[in-house]
Amino acid sequence: MAGRVQSIRGMNDILPEQEPYWTTLEETAATVFGMYGYRRIRIPIMERTPLFARAVGEVTDIVEKEMYTFEDRGGDSLSLRPEGTAGVVRAGIEHGLLHNQSPRLWYAGPMFRYERPQKGRYRQFHQLGIEVFGQTGPDVDIEQIALAARLFRALGIGGLRLEINTLGTPAERAAWRDALHAYFSAHQAELDEDSRRRLERNPLRILDSKNPAMQELIAAAPTLRNNLGVESAAHFDQLCAGLKQLGIAYEINTRLVRGLDYYTRTVFEWLTSDLGAQDAVCSGGRYDGLVEQLGGNPVPGTGFALGVERLIALMQAQQVPLINTAPQVFLVHAGEQAAARVMALAEALRDAIPGLRLQVNAGGGSFKSQFKRADRSGAQVALVFGDAEAAGNSVQIKPMAGQGEQEEVPLEQAPQRIAALLQPH
Ligand code: HAM
Repeated sequence: MAGRVQSIRGMNDILPEQEPYWTTLEETAATVFGMYGYRRIRIPIMERTPLFARAVGEVTDIVEKEMYTFEDRGGDSLSLRPEGTAGVVRAGIEHGLLHNQSPRLWYAGPMFRYERPQKGRYRQFHQLGIEVFGQTGPDVDIEQIALAARLFRALGIGGLRLEINTLGTPAERAAWRDALHAYFSAHQAELDEDSRRRLERNPLRILDSKNPAMQELIAAAPTLRNNLGVESAAHFDQLCAGLKQLGIAYEINTRLVRGLDYYTRTVFEWLTSDLGAQDAVCSGGRYDGLVEQLGGNPVPGTGFALGVERLIALMQAQQVPLINTAPQVFLVHAGEQAAARVMALAEALRDAIPGLRLQVNAGGGSFKSQFKRADRSGAQVALVFGDAEAAGNSVQIKPMAGQGEQEEVPLEQAPQRIAALLQPH
């Protein structure tokens, strides 16, 4: 007997009952991105492997252990994208979008990381991200954080904490890196295996360690503060002042280094305490060297990505209001005359009421069983179209949830009467 083929661990089916959450988040995000002048870009879900190795960094968890990399039939090494920024930069360079322009781009879609799956951490997960190019000032950093805050407000999500930090310029970071190297070398014996490996190649990554046994050592490590140049310090001060002016509360976390190597100056994360260990719902920062590093002219960039599954878990935990995606109207019908005209009636109603979500009963059944289906569909209004109604050119309108009696209405008046009964959304 043939066995059933199972889905891949850490890759979820998103079933229709989840849809209201996804629709609410995606539509609200698209609206808010539009409010700040962002336009959507759609890029492939796979790229040549070196793009990610160069952008995200050779000595990062993502590139070392988490990429889905394979050879295609032509022998090229490809990887499923573990994140969106590298591909957006690649596309920007390739299509000349970054030249003498300052594009504001947003993207959405699945990302892939071979991580150990747990609540809030999956191997296929989704991001909604934004990137701005060509702006060096902290005003864009501030505006992007304000945009995220507005999106959370629009969704009705509360209780998020904002952490910010600066990683300076590459030169400043190199000096910090030396200081960290010296410090961790002096504490070799206390390093775990991962950290020992990282000591020579990328000691900053040690700060990113989640190993509880390492936390005390990490807490006492040198910070970038002493190596920060005047301009980077001013950029960070202006970021803080701008956030204060907008009333956006933040904490400075000098250990916040992020898991990707391309960041310069501003980095930030929005965190929740409602979801356990996977607490970052939105992360990003500035990457002024990345475009050049990937072969473009030097153009600064800054952006963030939201973790869709994590935000949806928060929306569920906080029971935020959702956009209704259920049918608004369910059309019950019985009899030969009615059956012959029901599709035309449904089409006429969809023409007359813009955007109407109308489900016509399919597969027959008694009025009683059709009403059960109408109820389960979540519709606000049921229409009854039997042979008597067909003969009389009328339809019965029945509000589903309590409110109001069933009434018979001539067909030409039906759109107006139905529209009056529907709640917004
Ligand atoms: P990231 O921090 O690696 O940054 O990912 C962004 C967000 O994606 C995280 O805050 C988290 O909510 C979500 N996320 C990451 N990994 C997983 C996972 N395995 N399962 C579920 N959710 C996950 C980036 O990807 C950068 N490209 C963000 C950025 C854009 N920086 C500048 N521009």
